[in-house]
Amino acid sequence: MDFLELTKKRYSVRAYKPTPVEDEKLKQILEAARMAPTGSNQQAFQLVVVHTKGREEELRPIYNRDWFVQAPIIICACATTIPGQAYDEGRSYRNVGIVMDHLILAATNLGLGTCWIGAFDTNPARDILGLPKDVKPIVFATVGYSDDEPRPKVRKSIDELVRYEQW
Ligand SMILES: Cc1cc2nc3c(=O)[nH]c(=O)nc-3n(C[C@H](O)[C@H](O)[C@H](O)COP(=O)(O)O)c2cc1C
Repeated sequence: MDFLELTKKRYSVRAYKPTPVEDEKLKQILEAARMAPTGSNQQAFQLVVVHTKGREEELRPIYNRDWFVQAPIIICACATTIPGQAYDEGRSYRNVGIVMDHLILAATNLGLGTCWIGAFDTNPARDILGLPKDVKPIVFATVGYSDDEPRPKVRKSIDELVRYEQW
């Protein structure tokens, strides 16, 4: 798919079919995430892949929405600490955001629906996923086949978003 078309095709999917995600597609989206650039190539992230089937009620405290646990897969993108370096929240959010964007666009390209989830509850996420202290959950994504309809994209105009500096 043309890249611009891909960015327009992606939308937040908040209803999923029970159809499982093929292992090959899961591998491909994880590979796209692995290829994401990170500052100084430190790759200080971990992706936790969760299959939801049969675990719906256990996972619900992370983000209490029916569609969150209806998605066959949820992925938690975490920042990890770098030995000898203080944790830098800004750096972690930048890097993990890029990783997740690679993953989500790759999923869209394979016909999968996704939704970013930033409003999850950190403590249940830590407990339920068994995250060690030095692994910080930054953002989740649901992944599965959409049972939702795309909505018109509401975006500011280029003029509002871009300023060309005068030379
Ligand atoms: C970093 C980030 C966090 C988000 N967190 C949530 C969330 O917690 N719950 C939710 O329903 N949507 C969440 N969204 C989805 C946005 O609401 C959505 O991307 C935006 O409204 C644009 O709609 P679109 O994705 O359909 O183009 C998040 C998106 C981003 C990029």
